[in-house]
Amino acid sequence: MTKTGQSGQHEKLAIDGGNPAFSGMAGKPEPKVGVSEFLMIAERFGFSDEAMGRLRETLSDADLGGGPHLGRYYGSASPSMGDRFEALAREKFGVKHAYAVCNGTCALQAALMAVGVGPGTEIIVPATGFIATGMAGAFFGATPIYCDVDASLQMDPDKLEALITPRTAAVLPTHHWGFVSAMDPIVDSARRHNIAVIEDCAQSPGATYHGRPVGSLGDIGCFSISSYKIIGGGEGGMIVTNDDRLFDRIRQAAEAGGLWRPDRFAKPRYDGELFAGSNYRMSELESAIDVIQMQKLDGIVSRHRHIWKRIRERLSNFQEITWQSSNDPDGDIGYLMRFFPRDHALGDKIVEALQAEGIGARCRGPEAGPDWHLYRYHFPLFDTAKEHCRPECCPVAADLYERCISISLNQWWSDADCDAVAGGINKVLNAYCTRLKA
Ligand SMILES: Cc1ncc(COP(=O)(O)O)c(C=O)c1O
Repeated sequence: MTKTGQSGQHEKLAIDGGNPAFSGMAGKPEPKVGVSEFLMIAERFGFSDEAMGRLRETLSDADLGGGPHLGRYYGSASPSMGDRFEALAREKFGVKHAYAVCNGTCALQAALMAVGVGPGTEIIVPATGFIATGMAGAFFGATPIYCDVDASLQMDPDKLEALITPRTAAVLPTHHWGFVSAMDPIVDSARRHNIAVIEDCAQSPGATYHGRPVGSLGDIGCFSISSYKIIGGGEGGMIVTNDDRLFDRIRQAAEAGGLWRPDRFAKPRYDGELFAGSNYRMSELESAIDVIQMQKLDGIVSRHRHIWKRIRERLSNFQEITWQSSNDPDGDIGYLMRFFPRDHALGDKIVEALQAEGIGARCRGPEAGPDWHLYRYHFPLFDTAKEHCRPECCPVAADLYERCISISLNQWWSDADCDAVAGGINKVLNAYCTRLKA
């Protein structure tokens, strides 16, 4: 059919066999991430100038075509890096489901959304750990209720049950700084009251409790894979669970665009499947780094465990100090050696002398400034109308945390290094304390 325009001239439509108006692009596309951007990323890895020069030479002629697609869906290599990271997490943490997110805080938020934490509810968190745990709940209008700790510096299970109220939606034990919480009594108390257990494993991936990996002991486990953790990409997080329905809710919370669903636009398959969530998806770049990090986890954990044990076995006992207790000495990672001197004055002397021996020891002391790892400084979260959300509600944590002497243990120490460090600790404690008979 021939059509007549306003000018009265006829032009044959492509659909009728005429020439197409636009028969291929003449403009030259540039990839979203090309060679120079790729090299900028490489610069962040700390290669020497010489190595960077060699990379530049090798890559200068490289053809990246359209450039990489760094999202998880549509065009990523299959399996995506996110899929590979999650498969490793399922294997390492012994769980049915794993979901990668952009950081540990978002992991906690998605887990809390999944178990129904919202305005008017309460969550129970330990008095030592990190502010992100309580803050993740406060973000949704919940009140963090602080549970005091015991000499393991973990949530004291004997104090937990008294804090549970009809408003309690979840308890979140944090496995603090490489040591594990007393999960059996915590889970028992939570089950008796039908409340969810969300483990905050940000500081202890790879730790175990009675042989089972942390993260797999409660209902949901949350991890941070940030640069500051024992395995670290840039900013990353992981959520694990064995529960199918909770897993759907975690993904709805963390990927509310519904890309995870068999049919993303379908009506809910059951009550509670769909709700207003957010987008906490991990990028493919971060996943690529985290795949490598996960493969290093076992080595890191076993080196730390060996070093902690080798040093601890060589230490004597002293009247004026108490060693940090453990809920599972075989399960802790142990990247810190910690003990409590009788008082701050003694602590100051010990720390000074250890540092002079070349041993990196520190103690906060009573004059130290705010620290988000101790509840009494969580002032943005306090609800002083509640007895257990105030700066003075957990006296044991306040005392032990500020009196504690911590010695950082380096996973790369040789046996000779460990023996020298153990010898130095004994030497200092012998000088200032009374040695107890073995
Ligand atoms: C116990 C604990 N929970 C949660 C987080 C938050 O993780 P991210 O920094 O990845 O958001 C941290 C980070 O330091 C942490 O130590």
